[in-house]
Amino acid sequence: MENKSTSDIEKAKILKDAFKQINPSEIEKILQEYLIIQNIYNAAIKEVRTKLEILDDEFNYRYKRNPIHSIQSRLKKPNSIISKMIKKGFDDLSYAKIKEEITDIAGIRVICQYIDDIYTIYKLLSGQSDVNVIKVTDYIANPKENGYRSFHMIVNIPVFFSDRTERVNVEIQIRTIAMDYWASLEHELKYKNPDNIPPYIKAKLLECAETIAETDCKMQEIYKAVSNIENTDN
Ligand code: GTP
Ligand code: MG
Repeated sequence: MENKSTSDIEKAKILKDAFKQINPSEIEKILQEYLIIQNIYNAAIKEVRTKLEILDDEFNYRYKRNPIHSIQSRLKKPNSIISKMIKKGFDDLSYAKIKEEITDIAGIRVICQYIDDIYTIYKLLSGQSDVNVIKVTDYIANPKENGYRSFHMIVNIPVFFSDRTERVNVEIQIRTIAMDYWASLEHELKYKNPDNIPPYIKAKLLECAETIAETDCKMQEIYKAVSNIENTDN
């Protein structure tokens, strides 16, 4: 699910330069540490996924519908982690430093039906006693200049192992089906040609984002109107 602005070519160049500076014994250590990272963050993804599925099931039981349309997740690959660290200017590539600096090693994307569902999921998840909300960026209330909309949060959760408990960060992006439609296509277009999108294309993409946002609001209104009819019928 990664939407990266750095192209693979640029990333490969950063990595090539970085590896020239790292001595071979360090590389071995980094790779070993990545196995630890993979294990811990995979567990964190599973935990958050389960939390979301439980909330969705409960919502279904209470209101006879599912606020979550689908859930995607991804673990950041070692080359992406290393090139992000290098880009941020760190030479220390130890697990401790990576854990501190990179908040999106574990990424979860929650696709909801309606805008209100996004805030419901946010409220319910952040209200759980073992979930610490580290950062919230509401690109729905404040869309990005290019039109991007989504609700982002970084949460810190405990992961329980046989011998210890480790707290790690997970990036959660919550968006509607419509927001996801725009973001996926925009990402693909940008990814194909990252540095060369002419202003008139950017303007068209922005226009599409706004049309889609308007439609999202209308669908939300329709849902509310239909629920009101059902309620008065019962
Ligand atoms: P990164 O360092 O790239 O993770 O960004 P950040 O720390 O500034 O966080 P931000 O919340 O802005 O973006 C994180 C993620 O949101 C990206 O990796 C994308 O998945 C998604 N995203 C942010 N902006 C855009 C955008 O303009 N278009 C699309 N398609 N996705 C975006
Ligand atoms: Mg990211």
